[in-house]
Amino acid sequence: MKKKITLIGAGQIGGTLAHLIALKGLADVVLFDVAAGIAKGKALDIAQSSPVSGFNVNLTGTDNYEDTKNSDVIIITAGVPRKPGMTRDDLLGINLKIIKQVAEGIKKTSPNAFVICITNPLDVIVMALQKYSGLPKNKVVGMAGILDSSRFIYFLSEELRVPVQKIKSFVLGGHGDSMVAMLGSTEIEGKKIMDLVREGKLTQEKLDKIVDRTKKGGAEIVKYLEKGSAFYAPAASGVEMAECYLSDLKKKIPCAVHLNGEYGTQNIYAGVPVIIGSKGVEKIVELELSKEERKNFDNSIKAVKELFDAAKKIDPELV
Ligand code: APR
Repeated sequence: MKKKITLIGAGQIGGTLAHLIALKGLADVVLFDVAAGIAKGKALDIAQSSPVSGFNVNLTGTDNYEDTKNSDVIIITAGVPRKPGMTRDDLLGINLKIIKQVAEGIKKTSPNAFVICITNPLDVIVMALQKYSGLPKNKVVGMAGILDSSRFIYFLSEELRVPVQKIKSFVLGGHGDSMVAMLGSTEIEGKKIMDLVREGKLTQEKLDKIVDRTKKGGAEIVKYLEKGSAFYAPAASGVEMAECYLSDLKKKIPCAVHLNGEYGTQNIYAGVPVIIGSKGVEKIVELELSKEERKNFDNSIKAVKELFDAAKKIDPELV
């Protein structure tokens, strides 16, 4: 039987997710949105491209959780995106309310699904979603690290004129300005990035600029678009996570997951490398951190914790 992916939120990211999933023939797609017309219209539009693009999956749109029943994967983008000048944290109050409704909906209809959250502020929203829904922690994850790493790799590839496929890196921590590019684990054509700096092939100044541009990668796009935030790269990253789960790929990818002692961190969601397979989060991979990476990672965790405290003030039910 074909797998079923439900997309909660049929906006910019939701629509792009649906299209990518259809093109890959990954699963049947249910687009759910409180604005039913958007979900139905996008599902029909993409379905009408199937004869041209040659895919064979069903696409439907709905505003009824019954239609999402027994989904294998749920990807959540319900919520409000940033406007120019806003940080992801500014979205907390409004998106927290939305995620509470979504959690209610999915826990009744798809308690066994692998749930990928994309709604911002990511780490706090995914943690709230897990708490509100009560779904198992290894089946509720956040999409951020793949996107941040992808941005970093792309910028490095442009600067060094090396194909993206030959660059390996991880960006970890919270999905905000405090995210941490793991320079110690960054390799260009098999060579450590800091060796390139030492050899003068990349100046420290350029590297610092790329790290900074990565941290502000989302804001740069918000500034251009004016009316919304990035959606192509976030959707591609979400699909990668869904595929890892559905096809049991067991790839090592950075995702926001619940940390329970790993990285010296208790009871918080943040981005670290994990193995995703058919059981969900199958392993949390502990990288060795340099002193500086450790300091930056701890700062990032602190920022996520502070934002979660702010969320608890907004909704005291979140303990
Ligand atoms: N249930 C379902 N859908 C909802 C709900 C809800 N309670 N509330 C809002 N939505 C829908 C909106 O109707 C809209 O179609 O969520 C969709 C969001 O789409 P966009 O506004 O286009 O936002 P998008 O760019 O897709 O980003 C969504 O992902 O990356 C994050 O910061 C981003 O939080 C934002 C989210």
